Amino acid sequence: MQPFSPVVTVDGPSGAGKGTVCRLLAEKLGWDVLDSGAIYRVLALAAIHHQISESNEDALVPLAANLDVQFLIDSETSSSKIVLEGEDVTKRIRNEEVGAVASKVAALPRVREALLRRQRAFKTENGLIADGRDMGTVVFPDAQFKLYITASAEERANRRFLELKQTDDSVKIDGILADIKARDERDMNRSIAPLVPAEDAIVVDTTKMNAQQVFEHVYDLYTQALIAQ
Ligand code: DC
Repeated sequence: MQPFSPVVTVDGPSGAGKGTVCRLLAEKLGWDVLDSGAIYRVLALAAIHHQISESNEDALVPLAANLDVQFLIDSETSSSKIVLEGEDVTKRIRNEEVGAVASKVAALPRVREALLRRQRAFKTENGLIADGRDMGTVVFPDAQFKLYITASAEERANRRFLELKQTDDSVKIDGILADIKARDERDMNRSIAPLVPAEDAIVVDTTKMNAQQVFEHVYDLYTQALIAQ
């Protein structure tokens, strides 16, 4: 019999604050994190490197199935590091271009299928916090606790703007808001695994909360759910 290992799923649109909540929850519980968006981003970057078009599903499926990627933890700094085909791509996968391509390749059904096993393999005997768009609906439908973290598009654009402005003075909020809306539209309306809350997910709107408030609220919800079980 397989040992019981708990999974908490955290789905929602980009910029809603999922990443921070997942990191803080994982630290608190001593569990692992699956950043599934990073897997789609790595695939997008590999496609760009190999000059494969974002709509060429026949070429993207083998690329996804054989993706030469490692998710490492730096033992000195405890920070995560992503290595694609021998190259450290931790920072590069976070740019807007890669995010937009990731959202397009993620709409292809056979690409999603090819990445399923890789995502499920993150579940070990340790607990797992799974961050993404379809964690509670498709990848881990039997998860013990499911969250859907959201915020208004304007607030999400503002958070991204403040983050980018630290390194780029020319960044404009209008462009960021337009990108966020376009990405939402694609992620929510694709035919396969669209971004929707799982039926048994608790929805948390973070528009008026800071990261610490979100974490405290979510941790409260989690402990209440444990008590109720
Ligand atoms: O969370 P993120 O912004 O890093 O994700 C990048 C893109 O990957 C996002 O626009 C949609 C896609 N994605 C997905 O379709 N399913 C997931 N579980 C995670 C991400």
